[in-house]
Amino acid sequence: MSSNMSKKFNRTLVTAALPYANGPVHIGHLAGCYLPADIYVRYLRSSGHDVKFICGSDEHGVPITIKAKKEGITPQQVVDKYHKIMGDAFQEFGISFDVYSRTSSKTHHQTAADFFKVMHQKNAFTEQVTEQYYDEEAKQFLADRYIVGTCPKCGNENAYGDQCEKCGSSLNPTDLINPKSTLSGSKPVLKQTKNWFLPLDKLQPKIKAYLEQHTDWKPNVYGQCKSWLESGDGLQPRAMTRDLDWGVPVPVEGGDGKVLYVWFDAPIGYISATKELLPDTWQNYWQKEDSRLIHFIGKDNIVFHCIIFPAMLMEHGDFVLADNVPANEFLNLEGDKISTSRNWAVWLHEYLIDFKNQQDVLRYTLCSNAPESKDNDFTWKDFQLKNNSELVAIFGNFVNRTLVLTHKFYDGVVPNAETYTKEDLLVLEELAYAPDKISKAIEQFKFREAVNEWMNVARIGNKYLADTEPWKLVKSDENRVKTIMNIALQISNNLAILAEPFLPFTSKKLFELLNKHPQNWPLSKQTNNVAAGHKINKDELLFAKVEDADVQKQLDKLEQSKQLNLANNTSIKEIKPETTFDDFSKMDIRTATILEAERVPKTEKLLKLKVDTGVDVRTIVSGIAQFYDPEKIIGQKVCMLANLAPRKIKGIESKGMILMAENKSGELCFVSPSNINFNDGSEVK
Ligand code: MF3
Ligand code: ZN
Repeated sequence: MSSNMSKKFNRTLVTAALPYANGPVHIGHLAGCYLPADIYVRYLRSSGHDVKFICGSDEHGVPITIKAKKEGITPQQVVDKYHKIMGDAFQEFGISFDVYSRTSSKTHHQTAADFFKVMHQKNAFTEQVTEQYYDEEAKQFLADRYIVGTCPKCGNENAYGDQCEKCGSSLNPTDLINPKSTLSGSKPVLKQTKNWFLPLDKLQPKIKAYLEQHTDWKPNVYGQCKSWLESGDGLQPRAMTRDLDWGVPVPVEGGDGKVLYVWFDAPIGYISATKELLPDTWQNYWQKEDSRLIHFIGKDNIVFHCIIFPAMLMEHGDFVLADNVPANEFLNLEGDKISTSRNWAVWLHEYLIDFKNQQDVLRYTLCSNAPESKDNDFTWKDFQLKNNSELVAIFGNFVNRTLVLTHKFYDGVVPNAETYTKEDLLVLEELAYAPDKISKAIEQFKFREAVNEWMNVARIGNKYLADTEPWKLVKSDENRVKTIMNIALQISNNLAILAEPFLPFTSKKLFELLNKHPQNWPLSKQTNNVAAGHKINKDELLFAKVEDADVQKQLDKLEQSKQLNLANNTSIKEIKPETTFDDFSKMDIRTATILEAERVPKTEKLLKLKVDTGVDVRTIVSGIAQFYDPEKIIGQKVCMLANLAPRKIKGIESKGMILMAENKSGELCFVSPSNINFNDGSEVK
């Protein structure tokens, strides 16, 4: 660790945003905050630093109650279900929390209530009766995500009552233009109610001073905070309580039927979870100046972690404030925003089935493409490329050659290095400096750069073997080959050490192959870590190729989601303007039978049909070739518009139109009278 950091702090508490327990975990979660946090923590741990890694489920708030309503179960059932699913997924991907707690726990309710009471006693809140939106149909106040409308800052029509996800502004329901209840869709009315407000307007100078101490924060984080403080009227008072029944009950007089605002209780969850982990020593991490607090979050959480939570901690008075808040931007998927409701996501539990034991491949891909300073795109092609041309072709290839040759030449016993050439010394020097480079990048939260520096070590090794060609040289210069193989083994061992934060499963496996106990992050520039005479284990491949078919399977899955969404969207088109019975009866709609069908040459969509209308037999050109094989629709009963003016399509006179409707997958299907015994030519009226 750099001396600068170790001088000031003796301990570090790393938190990762508590995810809402309302759905499984996807790659966006991982890339946004859990993976960088894990890399950071693993690095600190491996360097011998005192660090604790805190997370848990955020189990209150409107996202949970909305989910419960949708699934027809209670909020408690929702959080019980997803708390387990999410905790398991994190564990399976090696996210090494020291504690994964939950905000429905007793400790948390107590801690959050106490926190509120202390602030209340210190007169940190203003009590205000205000008019809040109320849904008369649902008989409920509309806080946060129960209400949507147009964002007054950016015009996004789907901004929530607490936040606009488009521009990141934090909002109050009364800021929304054209507000609409998400419960009933109705227009809400205003109704008086009492709540406790945090006067952020009055705290603004203090918050500003805090921010000015941290001009070193990532530009995306610092910039966003600054623009809130400086925009328009600056910060506004914000209600810290809600008229809802799911959450931590407001613990002071007059609080009946009200709960703490979810963004008040959730960050206190970091404290509660630390208490659960360390009942006797948690204060060391929260209340001592030599302890460093770091929040890893996604960009939509910046205002809460950089302004509101610090303001709460200041007003309470007993706690340290965050020293850094490294927030990532968003990860998109194949060019489109990740969305749970549209099922546009790569779910971790599904990945594990399709790519068994390949967690590190995803960790590597997500880290080297992390949305660190701007939104970034995950594509399966890229995933394949990262795996095949980096993990397999560089790192895997180098390590495998080294292990295989060690067995072939020396029965798996590490040879002695004889004399070093200039080339050897250069390689060893690069190896000696690699840990420093990687450390520095990690400490600056530049994880893309860090993992790339790690891969560079494998690149050096790969090139070294390619240049020296020990497999050829062994016939002419045995001594030289011993030195080369010794160096290759040192590089392999160091790669295992340095891989640990990024690729923990691979690091462990490589140590096993080398027949070594895992080693800590190097404290010195010592590169000689495998002793001559040490026997290594049988070689095994660390990575397998991702085939085109594997990629195609994932793309097909996404295409399915897209089709389903299209279908769902088209099925809810609005009703057209009113028409009259007269207008309707001008249309001659009849039942008919298809007698012949053939493709119209040089077109993809068109079929030429011969149809018995009961009155005549005529030709109709219909755009259904994508959905029906001509051979299979002979004899098909259909409905048709019989008096449509004739049209020439591709040189064929078409007289009439077959009626079709879309099915759930967006495919056109016949509106077919085939289940009843109609005569051809019967009128539809
Ligand atoms: N549940 C929030 C989200 O998923 C994050 C809460 S972070 C905490 O956006 F600080 F409040 F815990
Ligand atoms: Zn906005």
